[in-house]
Amino acid sequence: MKLKILVTAGDGVGPEVVKEALAVLEVVAQVGGHTLELDHKRIGGVAIEQDGTPLPADTVAAALDSQAVFLGAVGDNKFDSLPASKRPEKGLLELRAALGGFANLRPVFAFKELTVNSPLRPEIIDGSDILFIRELLGGLYFGKPRGWDKAKNEAFNTMIYTRDEVSRVARIAFQLAQKRRKHVTSVDKANVLEVSQLWRATVIEVAKEFPDVTLEHQFVDAMSMHLMKRPRDFDVVVTENMFGDILTDESSVITGSLGMLPSATIGGKVNLYEPAHGSAPRYAGKNTINPLATILTGAMLLRYSFRLEAEADAIVAAVRKVLEQGFRTEDLARTNPEGLTVLSTSEMGAKVREVVKSMLVKA
Ligand SMILES: NC(=O)c1ccc[n+]([C@@H]2O[C@H](COP(=O)([O-])OP(=O)(O)OC[C@H]3O[C@@H](n4cnc5c(N)ncnc54)[C@H](O)[C@@H]3O)[C@@H](O)[C@H]2O)c1
Repeated sequence: MKLKILVTAGDGVGPEVVKEALAVLEVVAQVGGHTLELDHKRIGGVAIEQDGTPLPADTVAAALDSQAVFLGAVGDNKFDSLPASKRPEKGLLELRAALGGFANLRPVFAFKELTVNSPLRPEIIDGSDILFIRELLGGLYFGKPRGWDKAKNEAFNTMIYTRDEVSRVARIAFQLAQKRRKHVTSVDKANVLEVSQLWRATVIEVAKEFPDVTLEHQFVDAMSMHLMKRPRDFDVVVTENMFGDILTDESSVITGSLGMLPSATIGGKVNLYEPAHGSAPRYAGKNTINPLATILTGAMLLRYSFRLEAEADAIVAAVRKVLEQGFRTEDLARTNPEGLTVLSTSEMGAKVREVVKSMLVKA
């Protein structure tokens, strides 16, 4: 199979982590007889410096012409003084809009070896495996009217959803739950907000198409507590844009480090894959940053854009194995370094490659 991927490594640590993830994908492709057809284009600060814009037109064209877009991260403090419309992050927002993905998938998974890194007690988080699906194109962040009337000292945003916007993201949640533990939790605020009442009614309608999946509803305030007290009880969690933004950041503490969180945005013209972390400019060029979030993002790319499930599973299993063997990047070794071997970014990438290769060759 040919895998035509546009790579936009971006700024800061983006190029370092993307390099390691691509090397893992290269091993998977070689063993499986696939061809990685990679095109590299600029986005973010590096594009501002070289092209005068955070999202050059040829990056958008190449993205739309690819089967998947693999992004590192954008942003650097040196652009902080620019107006929001000219900053690196604007490039990413525009790319997301051009690709049109409306379902942001964020798996939150507690690797047993890393539970010690979380501020939550290991016996609470051990075994947690949640797939968050955040609606990404609607709700409060995009709703109109919006504005700040300075004369009146009044500002407002609009939380708005249509039935179609809710049903398409709910359908993805149920479809993915069918491949997992068949349980969907829909999060809303239906006791107060009409938009949440529409959300809930629509999710209940869509659930009828999936009789094998159990549906439960939670209010967002209660959910924020349940996630910290009993995260193991949740399988697929689907929610609107802002609630998802908040709950996924809250739940990142379960994984022990931002360097462990992959993400994918699907449902549009071309899927977009990126680690959940940013460009961490302080760490750029030091070869110490954790590449595992990006490597796990590569696994999502194989799963959701190419249906290479076994290969994706092998990458996740290899990451688990490397952790079991006591290998860590700096961020994962801070809490309890005893008995651990701290690896650089490139060494960690090489370890995962080695294990993935041996797993796939044996299979
Ligand atoms: N999707 C994106 O491209 C994206 C997302 C968030 C932030 N940003 C941008 O990144 C820049 C830095 O933002 P920030 O410092 O708030 O967030 P950040 O995620 O870049 O880093 C915050 C801290 O988390 C830790 N961290 C992050 N990734 C890690 C990894 N892979 N391994 C180990 N530790 C890791 C580091 O301690 C880092 O200082 C800003 O310009 C911001 O706008 C971009």
